[in-house]
Parts: sequence; C-alpha cells; structure tokens
Amino acid sequence: MTTASAPVDERRLQRDLDAIASFTEPGTEGWTRRVFQPAFAESRSFVADAMADAGLDVSLDGAGNIIGVLPGLDAAAPRLVSGSHTDTVAGGGRFDGILGVLGAIEVVRSLRDQGHRLTRDLYVVDFLGEEPNEFGLSCVGSRAIAGTLTAEHLELRDPSGRRLADAFADSGHDPATIAAARWTDPALAFVELHIEQGPVLEAMGKEIGVVDVIAGITRFLATFRGRPDHSGTMPMHLRRDAASAAAESQLALESLAGDGGGVATTGRIDLWPGSMNVVPAVARMWGELRSPDAGWLEGHRRGFADAVRGIGERRQVGAELDWLSATNPTPCTADLQIAIEQASATLGIDTMRLPSGAGHDAVQMAHIAPTAMVFVPSKDGRSHVPEEYTSPAECARGAHVLMQTLIELDRAAVGEGEDGR
Ligand code: HGY
Ligand code: MN
Ligand code: MN
Repeated sequence: MTTASAPVDERRLQRDLDAIASFTEPGTEGWTRRVFQPAFAESRSFVADAMADAGLDVSLDGAGNIIGVLPGLDAAAPRLVSGSHTDTVAGGGRFDGILGVLGAIEVVRSLRDQGHRLTRDLYVVDFLGEEPNEFGLSCVGSRAIAGTLTAEHLELRDPSGRRLADAFADSGHDPATIAAARWTDPALAFVELHIEQGPVLEAMGKEIGVVDVIAGITRFLATFRGRPDHSGTMPMHLRRDAASAAAESQLALESLAGDGGGVATTGRIDLWPGSMNVVPAVARMWGELRSPDAGWLEGHRRGFADAVRGIGERRQVGAELDWLSATNPTPCTADLQIAIEQASATLGIDTMRLPSGAGHDAVQMAHIAPTAMVFVPSKDGRSHVPEEYTSPAECARGAHVLMQTLIELDRAAVGEGEDGR
C-alpha cells in the first residue's frame, strides 16, 4: 500500500491562477490570450518565473514551449512529463489548460515542501498554442515536441494570408529551430491535469475523472462563391447567394450530427463584400466534427462533403471544402488510467472513467509516450466562456491526484518494458 502524500497548497495554487488571469487582451469579454498575441507573450514570463521559483530548470524550446525540469535521482531513467497550455480561446475562461500548467508547478513545490525526491526527472511543459488559431491548427507546440508539426502546417495561412511560419518568426521563434524541439528521449508517462469542460463529473457527483479516450477532431474551411448583386433589385429566384449556401450547409452539418455519435460545429462565417445592400458573393465557413468513434468521423466527413456539393449545385454557387486538420480518437494508456485510479484510491478519492469531447496536447504527446489525463469538474459543464469555473478545492484536489499519480509511477514501470509503450 502506497503512502498518501499530503495535499498541495490550495491557496498558493489559487494565487497563481489569479495572477495569470491578469494577462488578457484588452477590450475582450472574459479572458483572451491567443497565441502570437502580445498578452500571451507577456504571460509566458510569468509562467517561466513561476517554474524557476519552484526550483525547475527552465528553458524555451525552438517551438516556443516553456519546459521546466525537476532533476531526479536517476537521470538515466525515462522521464515523467506533465503540463498543458496557457493560451485561451477568445473570450475564454481562467482554467482551460492553465490548471494543467500551474497545477503541475504546484506539484513540484509540494514535492519539495514534503521532501520527496523523485527517482525520475519530471518535465513540466507549457505547450505553445494548444487552441486552434487563425491558421486553423491546434496543439502547435505539442506537435513540435511529438514531431507531428509538418512543413505543410507551417505553410498554413491566416485570413490575411500570413503563414504560420511567419507568425513564428514574428514572435521571435526561428521556424528553422522548430524541428529541434522534437523529443527523442523516451518518456515513462505523460499525465495531464485538465478541467473536464463538460457536465458529466458534476452530474455524477464525482471529484476526479480518468479519461479513457480523447475525441478525434476534424476541422474544415468551406468556401462558397456566388454572384454579388444589388439587394434591392435582383429577384430572389435569380440570386446566387453565397451566404444562403453557407447557412444551408451549416444546418446540414447540424442535422448530420443529430444521430448522437459525435458533435459538429460551425464556429465562424465570413461574408464578402459584407454590405447589407449587396447579395454576398463569397462565404467562408470554418467548423469541425468530433467523435470518439473514428468510423463516425469518416462517415460524417463524407456526408458533409456530399451535402456541400449538392447545395452548391442546387444554388449554382461554387463550393470548395478544405479539410484543415484531423486527429484520430486517442485512447489513453490503460496502465496509466489504472495508476490514476490507484493514486486516487490511496487518497480516498472517488473517480469515474469518461471520454473527453475536448481535444488536448495529450493527443500529440500520445504519439511519443504512454498518456493519460486527470479531469476535475467544470461548474455547469461550461468552458471556453468567462463563466468557466472550477473551485479552489477542486483545483487543488486535481493537483494532489496528479502528484500522487506521479509519485506512484515514479516507483514502478508502467506496462511491459521500462518505457511502458
Ligand atoms: O478545442 C478543444 O477541444 C480544446 O479546448 N482546445
Ligand atoms: Mn480549450
Ligand atoms: Mn485545453
């Protein structure tokens, strides 16, 4: 029976959560720290300082990930890794990703306070740019570490035509150094603490969630090219209205996802020329489909492509559908799920297994290490909004389970072989 560690310092963790919340883009609802924007850049010095103050050896890799290392007693043993992201969506909250970075830093401080030396190095990572950005790509930093950030990704353009590589360069990261960010040394485990961002734990009255599978996500840009006309003189039956084609496609997407096997969302529609008295010539529609079931994703991608093509033909509107990115459903490592459950039991904490509808850096880290996630409840299941909330006690409990899990993993190899793969 493993000894239970003492709880982390709830107030110290909350102090950090409150401090980073002061970094936000002006004039926006809630909290906004988008990658490559000044507010995000300013917040990273806070993270690096917090890591250093906790006793971590801090570095910035070629892809803009902040990496803090707590040296273990045996530098040759495959490392333990934790972390998450501190960038947000526009008008987001104060916990999504942020708890996983600051909670891991609090684990390091608590290990020190309790005089607990790990055998293995512990890496704490603040991954750059987990949220989908203007280039249509998420998990930029963790893709670089996992070696899944491609040259094609760097050529992705934002609506202004700027390449992702240019954004890297403009923010002080030489795109040529991104490849060096790839990890080649084995990791024993990557364990990410994260808010659930959904209603399940709260509804089930559970304090801790153990993620069994992370939903696959496929993102798209649909472009409809109609014909601009005077809005007052062109009869309805003669119009080739790009906005109506996009609107019909959005409802077709919603209807496709109505079978409950996944979810689909249109997050943005841009119209051109955007005047009330001109029938829209161009509509660009960004969205995504998500499911823990790869077969559902593939079938609904095809179904949506068919719907877009049919709508374009019927309305005599040009219709192009570009798939911007796709991640497969990612099962979390079974041994690590058990390790989180055992650690929670050591602490007398009840758990449940559940899928993650949200995507995470863990999806990329799963390419290079056994991977698992610890969830804590989200009030009313809300996230990506200013109302996103997890109480100080729930945040601290999640960090405590993360710490106990890392302590117990540190003592035992996971699965067959030392690196548990
Ligand atoms: O979009 C997501 O699922 C994650 O919150 N970035
Ligand atoms: Mn998010
Ligand atoms: Mn997140």
